[in-house]
Amino acid sequence: MKIFTGNAHRKLAEDIAKSLEIPLGEIQITRFPDGEISVKIMDNIRGMDVFIIQPTCFPPNENLMELLIIIDAMRRASAARITAVIPYYGYARQDRKDRPRVPITAKLIANLLVAAGTNRLLTMDLHAQQIQGFFDIPVDHLNAAPVIVKHLKDMKLENPVVVSPDPGGMKMAYSYSRMLNAELAIVAKQRKSASEVETFNVVGNVEGHTAILVDDLISTGGTLCSAAALLKRNGATRVLAAATHPVFVPEAFARLSGAPIEEYVVTDSIPLNAEGKGLHVTVLSVAELLGDAICRIHNNQSVSSLFKVE
Ligand code: R5P
Repeated sequence: MKIFTGNAHRKLAEDIAKSLEIPLGEIQITRFPDGEISVKIMDNIRGMDVFIIQPTCFPPNENLMELLIIIDAMRRASAARITAVIPYYGYARQDRKDRPRVPITAKLIANLLVAAGTNRLLTMDLHAQQIQGFFDIPVDHLNAAPVIVKHLKDMKLENPVVVSPDPGGMKMAYSYSRMLNAELAIVAKQRKSASEVETFNVVGNVEGHTAILVDDLISTGGTLCSAAALLKRNGATRVLAAATHPVFVPEAFARLSGAPIEEYVVTDSIPLNAEGKGLHVTVLSVAELLGDAICRIHNNQSVSSLFKVE
């Protein structure tokens, strides 16, 4: 087994390597004068089980292209099996044709990964579980809930209620509520544009509760900002947010600094943009979880035990 990384999130790859007690393989990634990416795998990988760790976070096009080129190089270097470890699968939100003449990028990326030579995918908290079906290769889909729930449990929150900020996140919120033994509520939301959302109503009782908004990602912060204000108006005593992928586009910080959210619990699936810029952000590491999954995949062991919360 050998593990490699591109430039998307070297720190996470190093932490995974540390948890596996193996060194990261060496890749030389350079640029041609016109900006094209050039890759050379410096280690012999003939006949090996290789894992390439690369979330397709900001800048998504660069990181994706780099990943595809690395996979192509690995295939041509005769790796026996190539697993793309993509803790954050970008371009996932365009996962259906909900208006005329729009693409389904989540499927396009799946096609590109397979065409490049990917034999299996290891990923985490996809925007929609159904994206697994866009692949005709094995997909191991982890969730960060065991790591996040452990932290939330340690906080000993009073009277917690888990809130999904939109109907799409209901399944995720339900599993958090089960793990935390908390009540469940949902916010009715409508997206007006890529950065603007409108929330109408809360279904469920949040009055006098500590509300924990759970989501797959925070991007512009519009969803959380609007939902948190609504929860406060409905009597929630405290509001916290938990999300796997801290995308945090630059405009999110100004917007979220005015939101009634006490703490953002996120993971290191992608690098944290500008250290959270004044927000109270707690970053939990998923390196060990991913390392464990890599080890189990390599040894043909079940990964389902990784979904359990202690
Ligand atoms: C939406 O369906 C997702 O689960 C997130 O709620 C959304 O993408 C978050 O984006 P933003 O922070 O820009 O509202």
